[in-house]
Amino acid sequence: MSHEIEDHRLLNHSDNEPFANVLAKRVSRRDVMRGGLGMAAASMLSMGGAGAALAATASDKKPLTLAFEAVMGAHQDAVIVPEGYIAQVLVPWGTPLNESTQWNPAHAMSAEQQAVSVGMHHDGMAGFALEESSASQRFVLALNNEYIDQSALWAPQGGPTHAKEGKRPAEESRTEINAHGVTLVEVRKEGDGRWSHVPGSSYNRRLTSATVMAMAGPVAGSDYVKTRFSPEGTQTRGTNNNCGNGVTPWGTYIACEENWPNIFVNTGERFADDARIGIPTERSRYGWETSAGDSSEVDGEFARFDITPRGASALEDYRNEARTFGYQVEVDPYTHQPAVKRTALGRFRHEGCWLGKLEPGKPVTYYSGHDARNEYVYKFVSDAAWDPADANRPGEQYDRLAIGAKYLDHGTLYAARFDADGSGEWLPLTPDATTLDGRKLHAALGLPADDLAGIIVNTCDAADLMGATPMDRPEWATVDPASGEVYLTLTNNSQRTEAESDATYTNDGDGITQSGVGYATAPTNAANPRPDNGAGHIVRWKEAGNGTAFQWEVFIFGGSASDGNNPSGLTEINQFASPDGLWFDERDNGEGILWIQTDNGYDSIAEYTNDQLLAVVPSALKAGNGGSDAVVKRHNQHHIKRFAVGPNGCEVTGIFATPDKTALFINIQHPGNWPADGQALTQDATLEASGSVRPRAATVVIQKKDGGPVAV
Ligand code: FEO
Ligand code: CA
Ligand code: CA
Ligand code: CA
Repeated sequence: MSHEIEDHRLLNHSDNEPFANVLAKRVSRRDVMRGGLGMAAASMLSMGGAGAALAATASDKKPLTLAFEAVMGAHQDAVIVPEGYIAQVLVPWGTPLNESTQWNPAHAMSAEQQAVSVGMHHDGMAGFALEESSASQRFVLALNNEYIDQSALWAPQGGPTHAKEGKRPAEESRTEINAHGVTLVEVRKEGDGRWSHVPGSSYNRRLTSATVMAMAGPVAGSDYVKTRFSPEGTQTRGTNNNCGNGVTPWGTYIACEENWPNIFVNTGERFADDARIGIPTERSRYGWETSAGDSSEVDGEFARFDITPRGASALEDYRNEARTFGYQVEVDPYTHQPAVKRTALGRFRHEGCWLGKLEPGKPVTYYSGHDARNEYVYKFVSDAAWDPADANRPGEQYDRLAIGAKYLDHGTLYAARFDADGSGEWLPLTPDATTLDGRKLHAALGLPADDLAGIIVNTCDAADLMGATPMDRPEWATVDPASGEVYLTLTNNSQRTEAESDATYTNDGDGITQSGVGYATAPTNAANPRPDNGAGHIVRWKEAGNGTAFQWEVFIFGGSASDGNNPSGLTEINQFASPDGLWFDERDNGEGILWIQTDNGYDSIAEYTNDQLLAVVPSALKAGNGGSDAVVKRHNQHHIKRFAVGPNGCEVTGIFATPDKTALFINIQHPGNWPADGQALTQDATLEASGSVRPRAATVVIQKKDGGPVAV
């Protein structure tokens, strides 16, 4: 997400035990994470999620090993890849999706042009093949456009108008709204090995912060989401700040709404969830609401960002507009059906949506983290059992969103409690669940007994009351489809302190009101001794069988070789901090590569390198871990190697590979002066500009010069 739109406030006022404490008490459980091969019938046509677990016999195959020479840290306006690899820019911001629009770096972007061009600030993404036979050469690329760089967007006019105070011009607000959301674009590999997009493809589509979408699941149709625009509470406009992503086994894409609260403002009476989720009280992030009343405004397109109650009822204003955000948004990449907000998966700052181990006859599970300091990890478990007959097929004859409704509109949402002995518990966020202080969850939240919609709207408060464990900013997760192990990045938590716990906890019926250890005084401990956890770490867990228990351990700590705060013993070939993107790239033998991307905010790493992409084969580490250390430590850290470094100013995020593993797709978000040629739509990502260019976030395709599978 970058530091620009991060929310530095601590909004969790509960007294739940911070993750730092839990880590301190953690004891070794070297064997609990071991997983065997498992069969899973997963989509072979969607790239970027967990694939089908391969059931090859392990004994007669060579162990998977990384075969590239680690690249060293770098500070260049270029993408650095290992010797023997090429990297190419694809679909940078502003790339026209039709055949009639032109990109010109000297021209101002208009709302109309942005609506038919690739959005800004690429983040999570996935590929959706059109035919199995050409799955590695031609597919629909779905990518999130998380947020905007106003200085790049408005460079030709010298910057945005009234960015921080005063009235934003309607055309500027509309253009910015259209630069957010999701881009769907057909891409293909040409005969010369270069990738290009297909202008005018019928699959090309933009979803913006203004596109009409359907509400589904428990919150849809409830009083919580009735607005002037949708008196039935069945629709809303837009998806915003889509960060990480998900894919479904039935062939759809999931765009996750992360730092959306700041696009709204409420200057008046607030709902409890407005405060808990962090809706601003003076001005929204970009001030789109200030364009309200412009003569060109259509149907409250700007007014809706001001959720201050002004009308006689919710049907006359937009007090509920923000309650139509904070969800997992399902998109069918093969048709132009409206996207659907799947509310059953909870309402918070969803970093992503990660499919758990998929097994016929078992529920479909999704994991998601709430990326904010001291927030929680969640799991959704479908009521419906997975039927492999629902597996992905491209084409208009299949109603994939109806399959999505079957699995994603009915189920149970849980929040995670990580216990000190390495066990964990999924806490159900259901109306009749029993809270820490012995009440029914609905009663503790002041809701009627059957109000599941109310629980979902207040997901964070519900998780507080159930005793979930506050974490160090959960970012991406990924699942090893063979073992079912889930990896999760905890990017950093700069506001942890050395203070002792001084928790006091009261709920006087008007909500949770005081500070606690989960709030301003999250204490450090011997296992995680950083008062300011700038380097972050990665945990992994495995479900323990009964549906609500799991076993967890630390996988690796971020750290710098040049300071004494480096528990995993990282060196020049792999030192990193603030892990963010994560993808388990399944190869064969039930083995795979864990790819780690960074969004660094740790000074001693920033001095060494720009943001980066690292690789490790977790199965190579299985012997030798133990003790209270992380799985990765000094003696085995050499298994993790830096694969790529991004341009100055950027964050490296979003990742998947083609099924044949010959092309690895990543995103470069918020670069400072890249790509080199301001005019070209495809170009060498490893070249530096000779002067200043208007920077554009872009997808980068990394391939081996010899055409073989990457990294091995
Ligand atoms: Fe958008 Fe949490 O990164
Ligand atoms: Ca991001
Ligand atoms: Ca981040
Ligand atoms: Ca992120």
